[in-house]
Formats: sequence, structure tokens, C-alpha cells
Amino acid sequence: MSDIPTHYQGLVLTSIGPEMRIEQRPMLKADSGSVVVRILESSVLSYQNDIYNGKRQYPLTTPIVGGCSAVGRIAATGPDATILMPGQLVWVDCVVRGRDDSEAIYLWGIHEGYNSGSQKLSREIWHDGTFSEFAKVPLENCFPLNEARLYTELGYSARELIYLSHLLVPFGGLRTIDLKPGETIVVCPSTGGFSGAGVQVALALGARVIAMGRNETELARLRAFVTKGTPWVNIETVKVTGDQAADTASLKALGTIDAVLDLSPPAAAQATHLPSAIAALRRGGRISVLGSVGQPIVGWSFLSKDLQLKGKLMYERDDAMLFIKMLEAGLFARGTDLVETKSFPLEDWKAAFDMAAEYTGVGRIVTLTP
Ligand SMILES: NC(=O)c1ccc[n+]([C@@H]2O[C@H](COP(=O)([O-])OP(=O)(O)OC[C@H]3O[C@@H](n4cnc5c(N)ncnc54)[C@H](OP(=O)(O)O)[C@@H]3O)[C@@H](O)[C@H]2O)c1
Repeated sequence: MSDIPTHYQGLVLTSIGPEMRIEQRPMLKADSGSVVVRILESSVLSYQNDIYNGKRQYPLTTPIVGGCSAVGRIAATGPDATILMPGQLVWVDCVVRGRDDSEAIYLWGIHEGYNSGSQKLSREIWHDGTFSEFAKVPLENCFPLNEARLYTELGYSARELIYLSHLLVPFGGLRTIDLKPGETIVVCPSTGGFSGAGVQVALALGARVIAMGRNETELARLRAFVTKGTPWVNIETVKVTGDQAADTASLKALGTIDAVLDLSPPAAAQATHLPSAIAALRRGGRISVLGSVGQPIVGWSFLSKDLQLKGKLMYERDDAMLFIKMLEAGLFARGTDLVETKSFPLEDWKAAFDMAAEYTGVGRIVTLTP
């Protein structure tokens, strides 16, 4: 392709610590099993600083071009691509799985996983991430997006589609507990980036949502945000008081509860919201845990009420394909009613990482735009 430059810029973490630098590198080449993608928007996590400065102690081999999931356009395909073609709009998924071992799983640009297979793939094959003008991506990690439908008819652009990185995570959890239309789910907490997206996804699936949180202002913003673009949804909020039994009683007062979704950060691992929500579940209720749990949740009532607990790292490839169909079907709020993105150029990465730590909650995401 004649519009592919000979070199590209990437944002490199040279060693675990507070500094990164922009490097010029020779252009990538697509070979069998891979494509080269021109990155349009790359998502920044609320805890991106904590991963790269070592506070989170995620295993990561440096130097590495940072960055995880992204929206981009195919620049070049390897010889075995069958439907992906240059110019196509794609979702670039950061969940890398061993082609011969599903346990070799890691999150590209975030960590290299915890087994020898994932470490081999991360260090030797799929290493550099998407804080970059171009990235070399496993073929199966590129999901075609229907540009005519998403851009022209539904009013999204790459700045909104990057929010897939938030929406897909709770969707992966909800798929493991088979949340059904009409059921009631407690989302706790609900005022974070991933958990706020969890509220949006559960509502789009037709569930009634009880959103728990300790910040009443943010709970009110959450309610206003999710009802702005889709006023028919069914949402209630419950403030977490820290009195576990009282919070359970507040939840039970809202009727039968079928399921719980947890997306607690490590700082909330000892918080009362999850035990309160589990205690409010009906017999046979289901719990999806994607966050940090620092206390036992399997006790007598867990057994006597036949509860089900499912852990989940991200989502499966089939989940991502189904979710993109849901988005293209128009089940979510349109355009910026879905998400209000703050974007930064690569060289302003420090400001972007700091902004991402603050600009959290439903409908908010920070990106780097290479
Ligand atoms: N399993 C997976 O595949 C997967 C994928 C992505 C992320 N995650 C996990 O999800 C976590 C949440 O990410 P996020 O982006 O949503 O985080 P975030 O935007 O920073 O939100 C943090 C949330 O936790 C609440 N919180 C923080 N400290 C608390 C405490 N001490 N007690 C009670 N609540 C507390 C906050 O409530 P306030 O509004 O009251 O501060 C807010 O709702 C991440 O830390 C990550 O580990 C898991």
C-alpha cells in the first residue's frame, strides 16, 4: 500500500517506572496469521499509571510499546487473511490466546500472563501494543466493524467505538451467568469505568439494574446518563453505607434479586458492597466476579441458597462477536450519549494517564490518538 510510511512512532515503556518515550521504528510487516493496523484510538485504563510505574506489580517485560485494545484500520494483511482487507475499520482486541493452548492467555500491553506459554507469546511474538501509529496484530484479534451502520446510521465514530474496551468486560462476565431479560441484577460498585459500563450492558440486555455505590453524586450522574439516551431502561440506585446488614435490607426492599456483578478494584477488595449484595440474592442466584475480592464469600448461606459464583478474565472471542452485533443492532444509546471521550496525542501521554485516573465512571473514557 503506497500510503504506508517507511517508519512509525510508538510510545515505549523502556523499564517499569514513571517514564515513557516516543520512538521512531521501521514499518511493521504483515506475515501469516497477522495484520498490520493503523491505530485510530487506543484506550487508556484508569490504572494505566499504576501498571507501568509498578504499583500494580503486573508481570511485563520491557522495553514494550504500551497500549491495549484499540480501534483502527487495516493497513496490510498477511497471506492467510480471508475477510480482513486494507482500509477496513476494525476492533483490535487485547486478549491474546495461545492458538494451541487456551490457558496461554494474557492482556497485550498490560501484562504477559502467568504461564510459560503466555510469557513466550508475549515476549517473542505479540509484544508491542497500540500506543502507536501502527501495530502488528494477530489475525483473530481483529474484529470487522460495520462502518456504514455504526458511523452513518448510529452516529458513532472511532472515539465512541473505543468504548467497546469498557463494555465488553462486563458483557463477558454477564455471559458467564446468563443474565436474562427481565431479571434484576445488582452491579457493585457501579461508579467505576468498567462497572458503569456494566450498568449500560445489563440494561441493554433487558435487565432491571440496582446500581450500588458510596458516592451519591456519582450515582445520580449514572442514573441521568443511562436514561438520557435510553429513557425506557429500569434502574434504581442504592447508596452503600458500610453497614452490611442495612445495605442488604435496602436491596431486599427492592424485590427479588437474581444476579450480582462485581467489578471492584483492589482498593475495594474488603468493601461491604459485595457481601451485602450476595446476602440479598434469591435462592439459585448467580454472581459474576471480575474484580478483586479480599474476603470469603462462600459460607452457609452460599450453600443453602444454591448460589453460583463465576470468575471471568475479560471475555471469549464469541462474546466479542456477539456484542458487536448488539451494538450494530442499535441496542445502545447513540453517538456521544453512549460515551464522552477525552483524547490526547501520543506525546501528551502523561496528561492522558493522569486524566484517566480522574475521568472515571459511566460513559467516560480516555484515549491516545496516534
Ligand atoms: N476480570 C477482568 O477481566 C477485568 C477487566 C478489567 C478490569 N478489571 C478490574 O476492574 C477494576 C475496576 O476498574 P474501573 O476502571 O471500573 O475502576 P475505576 O473507574 O477506578 O472505579 C473504581 C470503582 O471502585 C470504587 N471504589 C474504589 N475504592 C473503593 C473502596 N475502598 N470501597 C468501595 N468502593 C471503592 C469506586 O467508587 P467511588 O466512586 O465511590 O470512588 C468506583 O466505583 C479494576 O481495578 C480491575 O482490576 C477486571
